[in-house]
Amino acid sequence: MVDESMISQVWKVTNAKNEIFDQARAKYGDTFGLNLARGKWFYFADPEDVKKIFTANPAALHAGKGNEILATALGEHSLLILDESEHMRQRKLLLPSFHGERLAAQTGAMERISEEVVARVPKGESFHVRDMAQDIALEVILEVVLGTASTGAQHDRLGLATRDLLEWISKGYRLALSTIFGPRSRPIKRMYRPALAPLDQGLYGLIAERRQAGDLEERHDILSMLLLARDEDDRPMTDVEIRDELVTLIVAGHETTATALAWALERLTRVDGGAERLHEESLTDETEYARWVSQEALRLRPVLDFVLRRVMEPIEIGGFQFEEGDVLAPSIYLVHRREDIYSDPLAFRPERWDGVKPGTYTWFPFGGGVRRCIGMQFAMAEMEIVMRAVARAGILLPVGPDEPTVSRFITSSPKRGGQVRFAF
Ligand code: HEM
Repeated sequence: MVDESMISQVWKVTNAKNEIFDQARAKYGDTFGLNLARGKWFYFADPEDVKKIFTANPAALHAGKGNEILATALGEHSLLILDESEHMRQRKLLLPSFHGERLAAQTGAMERISEEVVARVPKGESFHVRDMAQDIALEVILEVVLGTASTGAQHDRLGLATRDLLEWISKGYRLALSTIFGPRSRPIKRMYRPALAPLDQGLYGLIAERRQAGDLEERHDILSMLLLARDEDDRPMTDVEIRDELVTLIVAGHETTATALAWALERLTRVDGGAERLHEESLTDETEYARWVSQEALRLRPVLDFVLRRVMEPIEIGGFQFEEGDVLAPSIYLVHRREDIYSDPLAFRPERWDGVKPGTYTWFPFGGGVRRCIGMQFAMAEMEIVMRAVARAGILLPVGPDEPTVSRFITSSPKRGGQVRFAF
């Protein structure tokens, strides 16, 4: 157990002060515990232990309970919040929306939107990749997830409500308050209510309207697919279930992808010849270097530093016994920095992925097991498409010193949002 006050530990963990993990690992080894509000949290930096956690019986380790801090915003039917059979039911209803053939239809929209947004970037000044990527991610959500036309009052209203909610929940202190009081406590629910209301209103309106649409079968958006989806007992999804999954996709997919892109381009501009290489590749059909850059950014600057599982039945991992109520946290941050897996681990070197396939338990920025991120391919495709669109517009240069990591909502983000500029 790390010997530090509970408040100080909560503050460090919710504010991306990752030195606490480096120091704890140096002192205690690959497994150590933090004494956080609402229980003991144990971190794991050994890939063997991570494998055991990801492949454990989902009844013994609950990810939904581990994620419950998000329940106030996402709702009780959210894929992130549910466990066991209820989780599997929702996951099966959602999975077809993320299949390869669907992705092909979605990437077309991503490409068009990226080109449009990148064209608006002022060429002579510095800009913040995260802001630009958020504009892209938001438009992608409105079109691909919600299926709203790219102009019009409804599109603008939903866009504004989504942007406001995402900005509101991005403040780390709100998460710290939820950790201390509990996400289902009355003060926390009251705190969230006004922030959630405009988006909820917009989404319920859209769901009601789309239920009347006669062309659901022909539509490609995820909302329409969810309206058509049936579970094994042929039951459709309720409005509340659909609302919760839509908010989950919006929250889980927006800030994460934009942050990953901000890190990717912030880091790339500091690699000798990196921006030039991406620029040259972006003028061809090759996508290899863009993929390496994404993989390396997600390794060295993972958007989420750990994933969580709550112990429901006593379980032994790596020689330690864990009891009901303990929280297990496979540490993405620490495993991705292991010297025995990645030579010179603190260096950002996209070419390290040349001929190397990321390992399931040594590279897991999207988590793992039955809970692995449902949007992984979607996010990797969006990263590649946006990076290539930016690189096609010119060669990027760094602005200012290296950006330190700060916390936004549950993500670890570059402090200035990935500030870069074009060389010409
Ligand atoms: C670079 C971008 C992204 C990163 C780094 C990321 C990372 C993650 C991580 C670490 C988890 C938890 C996995 C676990 O507990 O083992 C997760 C879950 C999830 N992500 Fe993502 N994600 C990204 C983008 C997206 C996108 C674009 C979407 C949807 C459009 C999405 C939807 C989800 C959902 C629904 C879950 C819950 C899965 C479940 O519990 O079954 N994510 N993501």
